[in-house]
Amino acid sequence: MLKYDLGKNESADWLIAETDFDIDHQGKCEAIFCQGNGYLGQRAALEEKYVGQTRDLLVTGTFNRFDAQEVCELPNLPDVTNLDLRLDGAYFAMDRGRTEQYSRVMDLRGGEVTRSLIWTRPDGKRFRLVFERFVSLADEHLLGIRAAVTPLDGDCEATLDSGIDGRVTCTGSQHFHEGDKRMIDGRFLRMVSVTTQSAVACCLHTAFRYFLDGQEAEPRLWPVIDRRYLGVKAVFRVPRGQTLTIEKLTCVTTARDLQYDGRPDAAEAAAADGLAAIRSAWEKGYGVLAKESRAAWAAFWEKADIRVGSRNPFDQLLVRFALYHLNIMVKKDDPRVGIGAKGLTGEGYKGHSFWDTEIFILPYFILTDPKAARSLLAYRYKGLYGARKKAKENGFEGAMYPWEAAWIDDGEVTPLWGSADIVTGKPIPILTGMIEQHITADVAFGVQLYYAVTGDQDFMDRNGYEILIDTARFWASRFTWDEARGAYVILDVIGPDEYKEHVDNNAYTNYMAVNNMKLALQAMDDLDRRGGETRERLNAQFDFAACRRDIAAVMEKAYLPKPGADGIVPQFDGYFDLKAIDLTPYKTAGQVGAIYRDYNNEQICTFQVHKQADTLVLMLLMDDLFPKDVKVRNYYFYEARTLHDSSLSKSTHCVLAADLGEDATAYRFFEGCGGIDLGPNMGTSDMGVHTASMGGIWQCAVYGFGGVRVVGHELHISPRLPQAWDRLSFPLVWRGQPLRVTVEGRRAAVENRGASPVEVILKGEKTVLAAGETAER
Ligand code: BGC
Repeated sequence: MLKYDLGKNESADWLIAETDFDIDHQGKCEAIFCQGNGYLGQRAALEEKYVGQTRDLLVTGTFNRFDAQEVCELPNLPDVTNLDLRLDGAYFAMDRGRTEQYSRVMDLRGGEVTRSLIWTRPDGKRFRLVFERFVSLADEHLLGIRAAVTPLDGDCEATLDSGIDGRVTCTGSQHFHEGDKRMIDGRFLRMVSVTTQSAVACCLHTAFRYFLDGQEAEPRLWPVIDRRYLGVKAVFRVPRGQTLTIEKLTCVTTARDLQYDGRPDAAEAAAADGLAAIRSAWEKGYGVLAKESRAAWAAFWEKADIRVGSRNPFDQLLVRFALYHLNIMVKKDDPRVGIGAKGLTGEGYKGHSFWDTEIFILPYFILTDPKAARSLLAYRYKGLYGARKKAKENGFEGAMYPWEAAWIDDGEVTPLWGSADIVTGKPIPILTGMIEQHITADVAFGVQLYYAVTGDQDFMDRNGYEILIDTARFWASRFTWDEARGAYVILDVIGPDEYKEHVDNNAYTNYMAVNNMKLALQAMDDLDRRGGETRERLNAQFDFAACRRDIAAVMEKAYLPKPGADGIVPQFDGYFDLKAIDLTPYKTAGQVGAIYRDYNNEQICTFQVHKQADTLVLMLLMDDLFPKDVKVRNYYFYEARTLHDSSLSKSTHCVLAADLGEDATAYRFFEGCGGIDLGPNMGTSDMGVHTASMGGIWQCAVYGFGGVRVVGHELHISPRLPQAWDRLSFPLVWRGQPLRVTVEGRRAAVENRGASPVEVILKGEKTVLAAGETAER
């Protein structure tokens, strides 16, 4: 059970608690309590062993391909969370004996997780146990565990078995060679394992410290070296009432780390640096390292916190939970890596990046941490190699971005087969890698938004223009001429709604593609006007005259689905011929994908039923395409047919409803976003948290209720709090200047905390704010 002790004390809206241990519910807590720093993520699997645990240690960028029949994925590094305690010969585990006063709490303020309990051994003797953990935000390579055990009913002999365990896999796929294992100076454990295909050396260095009632202890100790395992066994006598504390510190380095990029000695350097780092970490000890990490988190919150005054204190916790995960999902200074759909919190989606990044998460970074946003777009720039490869393989021009992306030059990595088909009993083919193509226009949209907010000309010159032009070249080759319509059309795609395959003229895809082409034409105009080195380079690469001609010819005659007499924009050709079915059982199932119990893909494709927002995402991204009444009609029409079986759906509905003045509906969808990872359905996050949903929660608060929107090159702020909220305060960065927006009831204030003036459109009125100035309306 998850519990939110909201309102009970001051810090309650920072805390997420698990109040009892249930062996069947481990997955969710492992994911939502996951700790990390963007470089690595460590799931919160418990120290002792249980059936159903998933111990994951994932390091950004270390992708490996297990064999030719699989796509690459983030490998699961050897585990360091294991810590087996034998108390007078009896293994501590909560599925034996009796557990009382159990709590496991994630404190979002410092990113720390603490578990405490009283355990009664089957023979009746009681022990107090406390486990704490951090993954350092101050030094991304460091993580630690501190375990404390106090025998309450008599002296005890405690035996510890713990180490670096390479016997983990990614659901069965072993990504590492056996590796090099050794103990150095009788104290430091080293395991260096190399991935089987990508040849990335991953180095783990671990060391222990022991204390008896606060005094450093030197126990009897044996090294243990076994197949894919390196550890220690230590034995202690612990008098009744005294506390044995075990600190386990680990340093993770890999040859893929940014600092070794391109170095031929990367593996040796990673191992040497890892050893030096664990030596110094061991000197400092758990307490100091945890404190340093806490300080780094405090600095993050100081800048990033969003404060929500709501009748329902859970809202505040939810927003902070999203900010916490947004802060640990990607290494923000590494342009070689993207954001996985599950971040680094689990094996789901194999660490691959989707459109989730550009459409759901990137806006958060663009508007709060533009440097990180630039790094994410630089990742797409580096991905042009794979995008061009994909275009060529499919017979197109330009750059066609992979639906799923991993390492920069991997190209398309979407798997070909999924779960079981209820009708045929065979695995379902996954077509998204081939025909879900809007991702290319989504990346261009990300570039557009970044430029509008930051005005970062250097980025455009180095990366942005080239992305816009080459993606537009793809679209110009992708549209085909339809004689009957007298227009260019896009046939055979999957739009955002993945419950519809092989559709023609998906409205979202067509409009976004045309937007992409417009951006490319503007880019070439800009470059011609400004002249200079970038223009010369890109003109030599693309031949602007030919490029303009090809793109404009298609763009001007591109088919764009229009609203019918009833105001509804067809999601794709022939949409209204689909059968309407009763969706009540699936809307109320409390579980995503319930419709698959009754129908297979082929059947679902024939119904008016949607997995997620599709046409509505378009209406949100392109505010001014359709008048308000058309948006309202489409909102209610499509929402009634949408199952929200993707975590990407509810936030779109929340923001759009807020825009349309449908406050209560907007708030209901905001609450729905809370259910995705923090809700009572304990199975939903087993494979990792939903990173797009974290970005979506930010969008609900800032776009939806904060009323923030980037229109052209202007920042509009027109807040409209839901009934349950009386206050909202959030940071923004506009043109490099930090702002803080505070909304109280109907009053909105914007403070310019930067050094240069900024212009904002506050509640429809143009307002220039000098440095340090606050405007209120
Ligand atoms: C959704 C996609 C999304 C992917 C990764 C799928 O279930 O339908 O829109 O990109 O998950 O989050």
